[in-house]
Amino acid sequence: MSRFEGTDRYIATNDLKVAVNAAVALERPLLIKGEPGTGKTVLAYEIAKAFDAPLITWHVKSTTKAHNGLYEYDAVSRLRDSQLGDERVHDVRNYLKKGKLWEAFTAPVRPVLLIDEIDKADIEFPNDLLQELDRMEFYVQETDETIRAEVRPIVIITSNNEKELPDAFLRRCFFHYIRFPDAETLSSIVDVHFPGIKPRLVSEALKTFYEIRDTPGLKKKPSTSELLDDSADLLGCPSDAMNDPRVISLGRVVGQFEGVTLVSVPKSKIR
Ligand SMILES: Nc1ncnc2c1ncn2[C@@H]1O[C@H](COP(=O)(O)OP(=O)(O)O)[C@@H](O)[C@H]1O
Ligand SMILES: [Mg+2]
Repeated sequence: MSRFEGTDRYIATNDLKVAVNAAVALERPLLIKGEPGTGKTVLAYEIAKAFDAPLITWHVKSTTKAHNGLYEYDAVSRLRDSQLGDERVHDVRNYLKKGKLWEAFTAPVRPVLLIDEIDKADIEFPNDLLQELDRMEFYVQETDETIRAEVRPIVIITSNNEKELPDAFLRRCFFHYIRFPDAETLSSIVDVHFPGIKPRLVSEALKTFYEIRDTPGLKKKPSTSELLDDSADLLGCPSDAMNDPRVISLGRVVGQFEGVTLVSVPKSKIR
């Protein structure tokens, strides 16, 4: 397959498909921004599936540094082995722990490299990766060799927009913002996850869901994942469940209904 068209488990809007295919064709990293739960991480999984490519995931944390993606040299183990007279000590390669970029650059087939939640790390992180992502190569001092990608991996970078990214980094990426889905898209998303769900329940649930999202002063708006959790709970419900006064509330729920628990936005999230 040479184009990304969405999959039977992932609803991709047209502009998202265009962005993915353009980034792949131009061999530029694709930077995907959007609020949590808009399908950024899952998108990388689906792209990998669509292109039949292995997925290499680098999950970024606040302490992650760019060099973690290249390799780490374990000097402590080497020292210990030398004290124990271990033969391994003579080859420095035994002490180089490959990072995700090394893995991606040397993968036997073109992989998808997901750099997930890049905005978790500090501001130097994206800048420090510029060169490696541009050239798709880096130098290993300990062995005096250059690790170079024969084929450029498909690079997907996600950001929840918690921090601004540096301009120099943005210039090198193909950028796409996943807007929060409209009701029609969201209903298709629920449908791919729960094909058997009753349409009337979905439309009622969506109505309540958007009302809650529009409530002023929410500390955190409910996301697609939370709607999907609710939808799972709705699966066993009779179609008229939403009309039951015991079921509807300002939160998404509501307690027990005929043995089915519907979940709600905790009141604590409403200021
Ligand atoms: N367009 C979509 N099609 C299918 N499922 C989606 C879509 N967008 C979000 N989801 C679902 O919502 C949940 C959250 O997605 P995720 O990729 O973790 O979000 P993010 O990484 O943006 O926080 C997952 O269960 C995912 O399957
Ligand atoms: Mg994610």
